Formats: sequence, C-alpha cells, structure tokens
Amino acid sequence: MNRKITTHLEMLLKAARAVVNNAYAPYSKLKVGAAALFDDGAVITGVNVENASFGLTICAERAALAAAISQGNRHLRAMAIASSAGVALPPCGACRQVIAEFSDGDTIVVLDGADGKVETHLISELLPLAFKFPV
Ligand code: THU
Repeated sequence: MNRKITTHLEMLLKAARAVVNNAYAPYSKLKVGAAALFDDGAVITGVNVENASFGLTICAERAALAAAISQGNRHLRAMAIASSAGVALPPCGACRQVIAEFSDGDTIVVLDGADGKVETHLISELLPLAFKFPV
C-alpha cells in the first residue's frame, strides 16, 4: 500500500540513506542502511554487517534495532530502509519478525524505491499473524 510520505518519514529515509556506505558487505556487495524512529523522536541507524562465515551476517534493520534497544528505546513508530540496489528493498522475514516485536500499534516501513519513489507499508501488511509471546 502506498501513502503520502510525511516530512518525518522523509527525514527518516534520509537518515537511512546517509549510512548505506557504512555497510560492511564485501561478499554480497549489497549495502543496506536502516533508520528506526521511536515514539520520543529518537532516530537510530544501522547497516548490514557481513562475515566470512556467511550465516553470521546481521541485517541493517536488526543492527539498528539492537543498537536502539541497547540505548533504552522500545516503541518503534517507523523503520526506513535504503540500499545500494537502486530499487525498493523489502525487509527479510527475520527482520519483519524483529520489527513486529517492537511495533507500537502499527509500525510504518518506508522503502527507498527506484527513481526517487518512496514506498510505505505497515508491518502488519508485511507480516500478518506475527508470532507473539506468550501464545
Ligand atoms: N540484508 C539486509 O541488511 N536487510 C534485509 O532485510 C535483507 C538483506 C543484507 C544482508 C546481506 O548482507 C545482504 O543484504 C544480502 O543478503
């Protein structure tokens, strides 16, 4: 679903774009930047961090969330994702589950699309029936 992007979300996407080149992606060459917006206005960024043992790779979204949670943030309003790919990069399934964990109401996921286009989705659309505990 596409919605008109607000100034806040545009700024969040800019924050994600700003860190893309910090990504450590020597294997896939796909650099990803993520920026998480919390209810008090805090913006925390992350990048993908790859490893020679490929399975140890951390996605940008989860890197951002781990840093944000470490700093005391909890209620995730929005997550913006930018990359070196030049097309909208939807979060992987694992990242969707982690976004859902900290979703406050319905978190907005903002994707940096081709030709300056911006996509917005709700995490409930990207991950219906997210697993929540206790069951
Ligand atoms: N990647 C992310 O950072 N986020 C995603 O949601 C999907 C994939 C990274 C992981 C890896 O470094 C590269 O993209 C290729 O899979």
